[in-house]
Amino acid sequence: MAEKTPQSCVATLRGQVAYRVIILLLSTFFLSSGLFAQQTRPLSEAYRTREERTKWFRDARFGMFIHWGLYAIPARGEWVRNQERLTVEAYQTYFNEFNPTKYDPRQWARVARQAGMKYAVMTAKHHDGFCLFDSKFTDYKATNTPAKRDLLREFVEAFRAEGLRVGFYYSLLDWHHPDYPHYSDSIHPMRGNPAFKDRVHNFDNYVGYLHSQVRELLTNYGKIDIIWFDFSYGEMSGEKWRASDLVRMARELQPEIIIDNRLGGKMEKRDPEIYAGDFEGPEQVIPPRGVFDEDGSRVPWELCLTLNNQWGYAANDSAYKSPATVVRTLVNCVSKGGNLLLNVGPTALGEIPDKSTEVLREVGAWLVRNGDSIYGCGPADLTKPQWGFYTRKGSTLFAHVLEQPIGQLCLEGMRDRVSSPRLLSDGSEVFLGDFWLGERSFIAKTDVFVNFGKPPQHTFLLPDPFDTVVAMKAR
Ligand code: GLC
Repeated sequence: MAEKTPQSCVATLRGQVAYRVIILLLSTFFLSSGLFAQQTRPLSEAYRTREERTKWFRDARFGMFIHWGLYAIPARGEWVRNQERLTVEAYQTYFNEFNPTKYDPRQWARVARQAGMKYAVMTAKHHDGFCLFDSKFTDYKATNTPAKRDLLREFVEAFRAEGLRVGFYYSLLDWHHPDYPHYSDSIHPMRGNPAFKDRVHNFDNYVGYLHSQVRELLTNYGKIDIIWFDFSYGEMSGEKWRASDLVRMARELQPEIIIDNRLGGKMEKRDPEIYAGDFEGPEQVIPPRGVFDEDGSRVPWELCLTLNNQWGYAANDSAYKSPATVVRTLVNCVSKGGNLLLNVGPTALGEIPDKSTEVLREVGAWLVRNGDSIYGCGPADLTKPQWGFYTRKGSTLFAHVLEQPIGQLCLEGMRDRVSSPRLLSDGSEVFLGDFWLGERSFIAKTDVFVNFGKPPQHTFLLPDPFDTVVAMKAR
């Protein structure tokens, strides 16, 4: 080893200083250029405004869908005209007799609020073309039935008064309008019917009607939080509806409105169409991984789900989901960044079916105790645990335990990442600890265990059979 002289010491020192300066300059450059910064892509304008617009929606997580119209009388679901190929004339009986004497939207709104729902979307017009609202552009509306009232206005007022946000479902299809294609359409009740073969339809006229009605809906009812267009198929998509203009108009009339994604655009694209909407709307399915755009960022979404199997009232459909299924579905959605829009189909007399109300009441009771793990929560970005789901809000992690553990509950990989576990429903202490037999080859060093009582190897029945929520501080 060479001997150190004073000169060599000075040279080494100079070298070290120069080295440090270079490192400092390089790291400043890299950090400011963002090369080493966390993958936080700057948000595009469209994305940013969507993020802001949908903030309340993503916090709300749970809403009520209401499918109500003339089809409540035949009581075989809202597609009855299509399925049974009923003519306008045959269906007219229901128009002539529609008289929901028991309609009390304040009662509906109470049911929704007590279920823990934060918003509601009702069918202003469904595919049959019947309007629950008083439109200037048609006679086919509730005010001309024996009901003689604008039933939509009463819905808006009642739900707002109960503190819920309100939205309108509006069908892009219209099986009553003379200018909507009949014979050649793949869905119309008169599809392939020779009597309609030579009918001429002025589709522009229909699209004008659609736009005028949407203008009415977004002008005459105060602040509307959501417009839910349904739906596009084949060529009936996008600009066929003059979708860009429609969306421009909607945003102009209601600058904060949230729009669904059934006008035919692709919201996952890097540059989505202006009409691509604000949230993805999976129907009767929970996207297994949530929903992401092409850049890997999460996209807001809302599962729309029937409580039995039909949207519109169906007297013979008794396949209701249990309260436990609904709670677990809601939790599943939130764990993947989604909302749940749960449907009720009121009867011809105007009542939410008793069975629906019963299920909703129990879901609401669970939410009273456990709502903190749902509202304002989102994905925890952890691997899904075997026993249930995680949701997260800020530094609080919620373990949703759906499956009765035997003995201890393993939080895989969570050692040193969680502390202070408490039952969310009553704040009581549960315990965090080691595997009761100490180190074992089949237990990872990063695993930690939750005990619902002592001693740890005993099995303690979960206090909530729907979903027992453990709240923890997370690092
Ligand atoms: C489908 C059906 C319709 C229902 C809707 C709800 O598009 O056509 O009847 O309103 O789903 O998402």
